[in-house]
Amino acid sequence: MKHHLAALFALCSALSMAAETPAPPPLELGILTPKPGSAPRLNGPTIHGARPGNPFLYRIACQGLRPVQFSADGLPSSLQLDPGTGIITGTTPQTGTYRVTLHAKNASGEASRLFRIVAGETLALTPPMGWNHWYTHYDRITDKLMREAAEVMISSGMADVGYQYVNIDDCWMNAPANKDPLRVGPLRDAQGNMVPNKHFPDMRALTGFIHGKGLKAGLYTSPGRLTCGGFAGSYGHERQDAELYAGWGFDFLKYDWCSYDSIAENGDPKAPEVPHWGKGGAKLPVHKYPYQLMGGILKQQKRDIIFNLCQYGKGNVWEWGAEVGGHSWRTAGDLGFELNRITEVALKNAGYRAWSKPGSWNDPDYIQIGQIGNANGMGQPEPCPISPNEQYSYMSLWSLMAAPLIFSGDMGKLDEFTINILCNPEVIDINQDALGQCGCVVVLNEKTYLMVKDLEDGGKAVGLFNRCEVPAEMTVAWSVLGLTGPMQVRDVWRQKDLGSANSSYPAVVPRHGVVMLRLSKGDGGKGQ
Ligand code: GLA
Repeated sequence: MKHHLAALFALCSALSMAAETPAPPPLELGILTPKPGSAPRLNGPTIHGARPGNPFLYRIACQGLRPVQFSADGLPSSLQLDPGTGIITGTTPQTGTYRVTLHAKNASGEASRLFRIVAGETLALTPPMGWNHWYTHYDRITDKLMREAAEVMISSGMADVGYQYVNIDDCWMNAPANKDPLRVGPLRDAQGNMVPNKHFPDMRALTGFIHGKGLKAGLYTSPGRLTCGGFAGSYGHERQDAELYAGWGFDFLKYDWCSYDSIAENGDPKAPEVPHWGKGGAKLPVHKYPYQLMGGILKQQKRDIIFNLCQYGKGNVWEWGAEVGGHSWRTAGDLGFELNRITEVALKNAGYRAWSKPGSWNDPDYIQIGQIGNANGMGQPEPCPISPNEQYSYMSLWSLMAAPLIFSGDMGKLDEFTINILCNPEVIDINQDALGQCGCVVVLNEKTYLMVKDLEDGGKAVGLFNRCEVPAEMTVAWSVLGLTGPMQVRDVWRQKDLGSANSSYPAVVPRHGVVMLRLSKGDGGKGQ
């Protein structure tokens, strides 16, 4: 075995162009993200889209010792900032770009950051960030667990780096039959309104609780008669449901194809003008129809609602997801736990990079780390089987691809390592970069590749990924990235400047791991 590993290392090393061999990293990495300091550090997106005349809610993402005193220059007069909590509320002003400077001050120091509010029709100008209950609580989700998740989003520091959406997935409604009698009941009331099950006694109060923390609330339904979990779907009640959800105060809707399959096979009587219905023959207009319908209705609500298409990539959804009002779309089926699969899904997802732009995001599924239940059997949460190095690769890929960062592990059992992966603000800055570019894959060989992303400040982020079982020496050459001249190099996981390099940078990349760099001509792009 030892010889085998040595041979592999030699193979990986031979691929390198580095003159000197840097010291090999430990086989598995520990915590790399430095703990936040006590002085304020403003994080999160530098740009935020909202629709004129709709309710506005935004909690400023800021690390540092509390109490923090927040203030803002240039805030439109229809918005108010709570100086103690950093929560901005009010009504989105008329169409335009408002350049606001946010300030945060505490006993240890102060920080400022530019924040552009773009009042217009485009929402999700940066990839949505938040948490979804599915891979932890499955059909065990309750109002209480959702509230706890919102509380932890604040107490863990996740909200301080930009996590915002607290999203309910399937199983909040009634089902015709279920092992839990509290989830069985009428699917709709006498007026045709969808009825939440007994674990969700008051949806309005739940969103109120989440909004009170400056966070946003998400919900799930299906265009079919039933959801994937066998609960009430929205078929034939699309407008009524959208209005109900908006009235409850939801800010995000995941729309999961599921049982719409059987409608697609037989033809949707609601849409006789749509051609190509039929078994196995569902074509583009059929794939689009239910999303077009709901997307149009959501736009008519007096509320900003992010529309998350979940139909596993049918009909090349990335090509038309934005056109039907979607802000993100799953590009594949449900993601498993294996790194090979994660890499495969990521590389495919990156292949659709042309369609990734502010307001329109390719979604390769959730961040499944920490304590998480195996989808197979909808298990109770246990430690995820993805190794530490693989978790760094996972989060780096999602950040470089500008993928929605939706964590789906157990918020009640967050450990230090998981927070280190989820909450590195420099990694998140790359994900949230206002240019909205999805990284481009440069395959170096069978076992190593780069992912390169242009950044708004003119710099680039680059991940050096190693699929070997042993560390690999890799070199990133500026010429491959289309760069010339000296570049400032910063290791974003370690938040450490590595100095200036003229034409390339060599690194030893741990097995199944990554080294993620930010390259810039100027100050290293730290932006603080
Ligand atoms: C599908 C989706 C998952 C989840 C479940 C819920 O499998 O892809 O993300 O929403 O349905 O039943």
